[in-house]
Amino acid sequence: MYQEYRSQCHGFSGEGDGPGTAGLDPAPAAHPRMAIDQLPDGYLYNVIYFGGKSVGKSGLMPDWGMTLTVQQIADVIASMRVRFDTPAVATTAGHCPQRRAPSAAPAEFVSRKNPFEPTAENLEVGRNIYHETAVPMVCQFCHGSKGDGLGPLAGGFIPPPRNFTCAETMDALSDGQLFWIIQNGSPGTGMMGFPGLTEEQAWQALLYVRSLAR
Ligand code: HEC
Repeated sequence: MYQEYRSQCHGFSGEGDGPGTAGLDPAPAAHPRMAIDQLPDGYLYNVIYFGGKSVGKSGLMPDWGMTLTVQQIADVIASMRVRFDTPAVATTAGHCPQRRAPSAAPAEFVSRKNPFEPTAENLEVGRNIYHETAVPMVCQFCHGSKGDGLGPLAGGFIPPPRNFTCAETMDALSDGQLFWIIQNGSPGTGMMGFPGLTEEQAWQALLYVRSLAR
C-alpha cells in the first residue's frame, strides 16, 4: 500500500521525493529521517485517516479514510514503524548556533515582553504543555525532550526545529517574536501554530522554552 499510494509524494524510498511533489509547499515528509516508531498510534492514525490538517499540518497531505480500510491503515502504520525506526539524523538539527531568521512577527508583537515571571508554577505549566498536553502534537516530538532540537521527528524538517538549549541563538530572539510563532506557526515550515493555547499558556510555554537555554 505504501508503494502504491504514498510513493507518489513520499517517494519509493520515503525520502519525500516522489513524482507528485513538484511545487508542494511544505514538501512531503522524509520518513527515513524520522523516528516513526516513537510516535503514538493515535497520531499516525489521524494523520493518515483524516489527513494533514487534522494534526495541524499541511492540507496537501490528503485524507485516506475513504480509500483505505481501518485494517489497511493499521497495516501500513505497522510496516512504517518497522521500516522507519532510525533515530533522527539531520541537516542542521541540534546545531548551535543555528543561523536562520524565521518569518518576522508583525511589529506590534516583536517588541512585546513576556508579561509572566519564570516562577516555579509558571514553568511547571509550560513544562506540562511542552511534554504532555500540546495539541495537535507535543513540542518535544520535534524540539526534543531536552529542548536540543533532536526530537524523533526532527530529521524530517528543513529548516530543522529550533535548538532551545542554544543560548547564543535564543538570546538573539525577542519574546514577542517567539510568542507569535507559538501562536501562528512559522509559515512553510514544520512549525505549526497552537491556537488551542490561551495567551497565558503560550507565554508560559515560552518561559519553559527559555529556561532550557545554556
Ligand atoms: C512538528 C514539529 C514541531 C512541533 C510539534 C513544534 N515545533 Fe516549534 N518549530 C519547529 C520547526 C521546524 C521550527 C523552525 C521554524 C523556522 O525556522 O522558521 C520551530 C520553531 C519554533 C519556534 C521559533 C524559534 C525561532 O527561532 O524563531 C518556537 C518558539 C517554537 N518552535 C516553539 C514550539 C512550542 C512551544 C511547541 C509546542 C507547543 C512547538 N514548537 C512544537 C517544529 C515543531
